[in-house]
Amino acid sequence: MAFLAARLDRIRPSPTIAVAAKAAELRAQGRDVIGLGTGEPDFDTPDNIKQAGIDAITRGETKYTAIPGTIELRTAISAKLKRENGLDYAPEQITVSGGAKQVIFNAFIATLDAGDEVVIPAPYWVSYPDVALLAEGTPVFATAHQENGFKLEPEDLEAAITPRTKWLILNSPSNPSGAAYTLSELKALADVLLRHEHVWVLSDDIYEHLVYDGFAFHTIAQVEPALYDRTLTVNGVSKAYAMTGWRIGYAGGARELIKAMAKIQSQSTSCPSSISQAAAVEALTGPQDFIAEYCRVFLERRDLVVSMLNQASGISCHRPEGAFYVYPSCAGVLGKRTPDGAVIETSEAFVTYLLEAEGVAVVQGTAFGLDPYFRISYAASTELLSDACTRIQRACAALS
Ligand SMILES: Cc1ncc(COP(=O)(O)O)c(C=O)c1O
Repeated sequence: MAFLAARLDRIRPSPTIAVAAKAAELRAQGRDVIGLGTGEPDFDTPDNIKQAGIDAITRGETKYTAIPGTIELRTAISAKLKRENGLDYAPEQITVSGGAKQVIFNAFIATLDAGDEVVIPAPYWVSYPDVALLAEGTPVFATAHQENGFKLEPEDLEAAITPRTKWLILNSPSNPSGAAYTLSELKALADVLLRHEHVWVLSDDIYEHLVYDGFAFHTIAQVEPALYDRTLTVNGVSKAYAMTGWRIGYAGGARELIKAMAKIQSQSTSCPSSISQAAAVEALTGPQDFIAEYCRVFLERRDLVVSMLNQASGISCHRPEGAFYVYPSCAGVLGKRTPDGAVIETSEAFVTYLLEAEGVAVVQGTAFGLDPYFRISYAASTELLSDACTRIQRACAALS
């Protein structure tokens, strides 16, 4: 009898974390490595939010809270969803977890039976398929082509839906492509969903605030109120408030689903950290002006990276609407030889070459289900990004 469970064989360790580990290993050997593999803002958590956490400790708010989160935080989330998204979710329709990742985990464990299908537009955030698989679901991939700005087209959504489809995941702006759906693009997808009443939508809005060039963010339940009853609107404080380590994510949805998710949480982590919840209240109710400043900086970095990558021989980089990622194609370098004589046959071989030849750590497209591409996270300083892109240009120029 094997000691480790069979379910472990269904999933892979996070490929993005593996890249960070490889970069750290090379750094430990004294190599000069620029890591553009991870998905977290390089800004510090704002001081008022940190202080709210400290104050919570001082007040003795260091005990278990209600399972779906404190009423203060759920009230703040309810107000946020109304104010920013025009969505009515009462505090009883909201649950808070240790990050949006745990929210999604709870949702899938609570709803998927063996063989239930989850439609995942590719390229996708690495965790969606694996969380579905852990919950015994079956991921069904629908390609969001670069020609359409890496956005799913209604006919491709229609083709992916079967009688076993339980969920569609929408992630706008997207990790890894940065693509964000306009109101009319969301409406076109909603029209397909209206014809398939058994399909629920998990809208992962975690990059909501990181949009550029005046892009107007919308979420699907807002665009099509007829989908409200079967939409789980997921969000969190990790990205917009530079709070990845605090581990707070949340969702608004149908009462029955939210109750089921809280039941799962009651037998796993009980509740999110009381201190982090107090800090998240301040994040959502305190001053919001620094977000505009983050966006200004990210926009500058995006434009720098897109322009420099498009000057690298064999690379072609689409300019996305949001998040802090770009997803360039490396099709033009495939088949070329490195100075050592090795042929670059895959995006994996290309990113390994970038790391070994120039010390730039990025993630291969195979990790995100659409190839031959790679993902660059531009949540790094302008100097580092400029240095990294110069190195990529040099590495590409050295190929023959
Ligand atoms: C698309 C997407 N959703 C959810 C998450 C999870 O965020 P957290 O668990 O920190 O809230 C991430 C983190 O990288 C992400 O990129």
